[in-house]
Amino acid sequence: MEYETPLFFRVMQYADRADRDVIDMVSGNPDWEPPEALREGLGDYADFEPDRFQYPPSEGLVELREEIAARRNVDVEQVVVTNGAGEANYLAMARALERDRGDEVVLTDPVYPYYPGKTTMLGGRQRFVAADAEGQLDPAAVREVVGEETAAIVVNSPNNPTGAVYPEETIRELVAIAEEYDAVLVSDEVYDHFDLSGRFASALGVDSDHRIVTNAFSKSMAITGFRVGYAIFPPHLVENAKSRHMLVNVAGSRPAQYAVLRGLRETEPDYYERNRELLAERVETFTDALEDAGADYTTPQGSFYVMARFEDYPGTLENVERLIDEAGVAGMPGEAFGDSRADWLRFALVTPRVSAAAERLAAYFDR
Ligand SMILES: Cc1ncc(COP(=O)(O)O)c(C=O)c1O
Repeated sequence: MEYETPLFFRVMQYADRADRDVIDMVSGNPDWEPPEALREGLGDYADFEPDRFQYPPSEGLVELREEIAARRNVDVEQVVVTNGAGEANYLAMARALERDRGDEVVLTDPVYPYYPGKTTMLGGRQRFVAADAEGQLDPAAVREVVGEETAAIVVNSPNNPTGAVYPEETIRELVAIAEEYDAVLVSDEVYDHFDLSGRFASALGVDSDHRIVTNAFSKSMAITGFRVGYAIFPPHLVENAKSRHMLVNVAGSRPAQYAVLRGLRETEPDYYERNRELLAERVETFTDALEDAGADYTTPQGSFYVMARFEDYPGTLENVERLIDEAGVAGMPGEAFGDSRADWLRFALVTPRVSAAAERLAAYFDR
């Protein structure tokens, strides 16, 4: 069996090798500062006794799990600290599939490409439901593809790549559908701190034994390299997930978890507010320039991404490589996110050069 490997690293490597200055808007690596307290925690760690350099508890440092549980208003036993949201999604999907209630995983189109990859890797079958032009998901459309074979429905809000933030009614309906079909809703909320709409609703707001919430500090603390995330399971699903986590990883990184704990405890809300404002400014700058360039584009309600469509320039890998070489801007091909956005390109607003990037794009497409 061949796994579907997402294209991110391939595009990043291509951009790195380019023979010119390239503005990197490929992946969701924040370019802003992590919390000061996280840096301090990391620094302090170097001087700790050797026992703190050994295995932490497999499911995560107790204090970190307690801090997460208190903030999310769940029982600490429900929390598994993971190797980023990536592992949290893997554990959640594996747990849903191993219930033997069916082998179908319902995904959206467009989709964050790691979900279909994980589905196949876990022996599941992919089913897609189309999001609308704004990236919103109609629960009635989800109902049409969900059935007795559905193991999981995997959604992501704020959404990568569309920028959609699902309203509370959608989340509520999705949980209800999962309950009705004895399936599991997996709600990936890794961009929850980047809700620009004020409408974000966590699936934790709907009490149910049929939903797993995944998240990470990768984006909220600008530390995609630390690999600290978590999943919150219903009590009856958590034990196997902890075992799988232990068998795959033994444990997570102890210094990274400690630094995140310090960051969580000692960071004021204005840190997150500032980053949200920075992102909102970049959205405005970039979309204004796309407007002037006569492109179609999305205005994200949340997450880091803007999708753009230029005339006669479909979102293929070849066109993305051409744009790197000829315009000096690196994005992701829309086709990487599913058929529905094959005409589009996705740009991550994680560079201070969004304005220069938009100018380059405008000049390039003014051909
Ligand atoms: C929707 C979504 N889920 C999960 C991840 C992976 O998060 P992590 O780096 O915490 O594994 C990303 C990263 O871009 C993402 O966009």
